[in-house]
Amino acid sequence: MKAVRLLEYGAQLVFTDVPTPTIAHDEILVKIKSTAVNHLDLVEASGTIRQILPIDMPWIPGHEFSGVVEQIGSDVTEYGPGDAVFGTSGGAYAEYLAAKPAAIARKPSKLSFEEAASVPVAAQTAWQGLFTHGELEKGQTILIHGGAGAVGAYAVQLASHAGATVIATASGDDEAYLNSIGASRVIDYQQEQFEKVLREKVDVVLDLIGGDTQTRSFLVLKEGGHLVAATQPVSQEETAKHRVSGAMMRLAPSGDGLGKIARLLEEGTIRPDVATVYALQDAAQAWKDIAGKTARRRSHGKVVLRVAAS
Ligand SMILES: NC(=O)c1ccc[n+]([C@@H]2O[C@H](COP(=O)([O-])OP(=O)(O)OC[C@H]3O[C@@H](n4cnc5c(N)ncnc54)[C@H](OP(=O)(O)O)[C@@H]3O)[C@@H](O)[C@H]2O)c1
Repeated sequence: MKAVRLLEYGAQLVFTDVPTPTIAHDEILVKIKSTAVNHLDLVEASGTIRQILPIDMPWIPGHEFSGVVEQIGSDVTEYGPGDAVFGTSGGAYAEYLAAKPAAIARKPSKLSFEEAASVPVAAQTAWQGLFTHGELEKGQTILIHGGAGAVGAYAVQLASHAGATVIATASGDDEAYLNSIGASRVIDYQQEQFEKVLREKVDVVLDLIGGDTQTRSFLVLKEGGHLVAATQPVSQEETAKHRVSGAMMRLAPSGDGLGKIARLLEEGTIRPDVATVYALQDAAQAWKDIAGKTARRRSHGKVVLRVAAS
């Protein structure tokens, strides 16, 4: 099969022939239609986090996909050949992938394969950040940093659907978009400091940015509130000082969780956001454009790699 591989840290991606994976009794062979690019793919490939997340070379990047079941292992009962699915698994920049049923769900029929590939990582991170770690409830107020990003846009939609008041930080260009998906207030992070303009404290902060943004977030949290961080650990000294709880989350992919998200997508309660689609063989160019900030034709949305025509 064709796949995109990285031969060493920091090298350019190559589009090449590799053996098609074989599946174990409990696995599914998926013929991939599309995969999507995550910030993590580029960071892993750069080698900067090799102490925390080492990768074996040669490495096929990619953490999420949409596609069609080609073959099932003898223990698999939930899916059959021809089923359209989407989910998370390593090595998704390829024509085929061996996936575990517990990490996939049926693709919403309303979504194209390109749209479906953009969903699993971002939407599940948002869901778990809000509800599993942030314990967000109806009537509460949440501040989402990076609200127009891939994860942030699902967080805004899911929090709003859950009956929370949503405040987001983002570039000013994204204000209208964020209002259209459920944010009641957008703070332009390039023009204003959120801790200076927020009059009321919030119950939950979902921090998709880190650094100084995380440090300043303690100033806007109610006592007993939750700081959920996606990019770096949270200082336990600061949480104690401000009488809040805070921790860094790590996505725990789940087919059941993705199935719930699929239902919300199917009924149109939440929607995906694809900015640009590249062919799989142009993955190296996509990464260059992402690094140079020219991959998106507009300010928000995910970059998708089309593996096979739908
Ligand atoms: N822990 C986990 O399990 C997990 C899972 C998934 C993702 N992540 C991490 O979560 C982060 C967000 O991921 P993503 O895919 O949503 O990224 P993304 O699509 O690149 O979105 C980032 C967004 O943040 C905005 N932004 C940049 N600086 C900002 C600031 N100071 N204040 C407010 N907004 C700012 C950007 O806007 P402009 O481009 O207009 O500046 C962009 O809209 C990444 O670091 C990713 O690696 C963690």
